[in-house]
Amino acid sequence: MNIKKPLNALFAAVIGAGLLLTGTANAQKYPDKPITLVVPFAAGGPTDTIARLIAVPMGKSLGQTVVVENVAGAGGTIASAKVAKSKPDGYTIYIHHMGMATAQALYDKLPYDPMKDFEYIGQVADVPMVLLGRKNLPPNNFKELEAYIRTNKEKVTMANAGPGAVSQLCGLIFQSRLGVRVTTVPYKGTGPALTDLVGGQVDILCDQTTQTIPFIKEGKVKVYGVTTPKRLSALPNVPSLDEQGLKGFDVKVWHGVYAPLGTPKPVLEKINAALKKALSDPEIKARLDSSNIDIVPLAKQNGDSLKAHLDAEINRWGPIIRKANIPD
Ligand code: MLT
Repeated sequence: MNIKKPLNALFAAVIGAGLLLTGTANAQKYPDKPITLVVPFAAGGPTDTIARLIAVPMGKSLGQTVVVENVAGAGGTIASAKVAKSKPDGYTIYIHHMGMATAQALYDKLPYDPMKDFEYIGQVADVPMVLLGRKNLPPNNFKELEAYIRTNKEKVTMANAGPGAVSQLCGLIFQSRLGVRVTTVPYKGTGPALTDLVGGQVDILCDQTTQTIPFIKEGKVKVYGVTTPKRLSALPNVPSLDEQGLKGFDVKVWHGVYAPLGTPKPVLEKINAALKKALSDPEIKARLDSSNIDIVPLAKQNGDSLKAHLDAEINRWGPIIRKANIPD
């Protein structure tokens, strides 16, 4: 009789049980050192702002500092690839917006699979966008902007945060609807892009409301429309792009928190509880309300909901992006 086989199986089972116990013990101790929250865009932009807002209360709940790390570039895909390959121990977590869904249709090949390489912790917030211009750009309203772009075409410069960024998606849907192409100026995030718009170095930018409302109210930038069909309570006099002729224009940016695939379930549960607590913080709600940002309902602040939403959004945006023939 060959006793090697049963012995090997026994050996494997003992090792497996040992690893499981170590994993559980580690999960019980978790967290015993600072946690890194990766942000796929530059500091000072919309994603970074939401990350820094939730990092502090999440750190308090978890009893460890949550350190924000900006891994900017390539529309967020560099950070996604990095997180997908990070150690799944709960010390690397990730916040990204709907670029997690749209990048799939914008790149021929991604070095990660958004549906397979991550654990899903919960949805966070939904953010509308605004189409902005530098303050001395000649057009004063959307109709004038449209005419100006038709006349000046590639002389018009439009900032974005690279393929996979929502500023790029919004800008390219806009150009596709107008049937005119402008010159794209890529940045590592819309934080630096907005700085250049205010400084007059670029002409137009489609950006989230997270930072932009004070600049609009102070007249530091021009605003040509909001990207949701309904007007925003913070900007009641700004018409939507939909009501100004771009029927069906509807871009609202959702966000989710992720971890690398294989992060232990008890660890994910602790992070999720900290996320939920942060999202119920009245100070965070007040800051987000002032930017017309909606925290998602409790029923969406979980991994199953995030994964289902991501899947639906990959299926929603893929055909729209391919039909718009979006090259950059
Ligand atoms: C950012 O945080 O810089 C933005 O979310 C980038 C973008 O997607 O436009």
